[in-house]
Amino acid sequence: MSERVAVVTGGIGGLGTEICKHLARAGRKVIAADLGNREERLAAFREETKEFNGSIVFAPADVSRFDDCAALAKHVAATYGEIDILVNAAGITRDVSLRKMEERQWHELMHVNLDGVFNMCRQVVDGMSARGFGRIVNISSVNGQTGQFGQTNYSAAKAGMHGFTMALAREVAKKGVTVNSVSPGYCKTEMVMKVPEDIRNQIVAQIPVGRLGEPSDIARTVAFLTADDAGFITGANVPVNGGYFMSF
Ligand code: CAA
Repeated sequence: MSERVAVVTGGIGGLGTEICKHLARAGRKVIAADLGNREERLAAFREETKEFNGSIVFAPADVSRFDDCAALAKHVAATYGEIDILVNAAGITRDVSLRKMEERQWHELMHVNLDGVFNMCRQVVDGMSARGFGRIVNISSVNGQTGQFGQTNYSAAKAGMHGFTMALAREVAKKGVTVNSVSPGYCKTEMVMKVPEDIRNQIVAQIPVGRLGEPSDIARTVAFLTADDAGFITGANVPVNGGYFMSF
């Protein structure tokens, strides 16, 4: 069997890099897709992944643009082979209470977090179905399940991702393609570290295991769901949140 090709959007981000590493360790050829203009982050990513000797590569793409996603899929197919595994990990926050939220803050977030999932899945679903194998994982969030103060936009997008996941899972279930969500809780990423410290401390105090998650806690779940023999798990949402969800 030839090496499976995986694309991870948000691939140079907090969770994305770790997901790339776990998939590479599972023997996948991994393409980390992300914005091309983040020089500093890209340099750190290259340093962090150099031990993988070329099994993790970077490709620029803005998931909020359908044409970028189409060009990415074409480039990957021509250079590395058709996409077998897609992990939608690109996501942003625009935290602010609804009464202060500007229209721009709603739409920017939706374009990346929700349109991005459509834009990427649309590129791969035909090919995966025709070849009889595919694994799609959408990185949602505990806040899509519980809601969070200051995150009407983010919580709506993340809950929407799981609705999308279940609907697409049904459409491709007979084609050997699985579609699942992973809902991380609060993890040690730049995104979470941007939450004001006092609020973050209150959140950590509610996590039964008593700590923030590690990106590897999420990445191992993605590796599990994308395994070749994970074909009976589809339309599921896997919470990985240190028991935070139980606090509600
Ligand atoms: N719960 C209850 N009340 C809160 C609150 C909260 N979490 N946060 C603020 N308030 C209160 C304030 O005390 C204040 O009260 P008063 O008006 O009585 O003084 C009022 O609400 C402030 O309301 P504002 O409209 O002024 O709030 P804001 O627009 O300034 O926004 C916020 C506040 C910056 C959004 C802040 O609530 C916040 O940072 N919340 C956390 C958001 C969060 O958890 N983001 C997660 C990012 S990481 C991520 O998303 C990854 C993942 O998937 C887990």
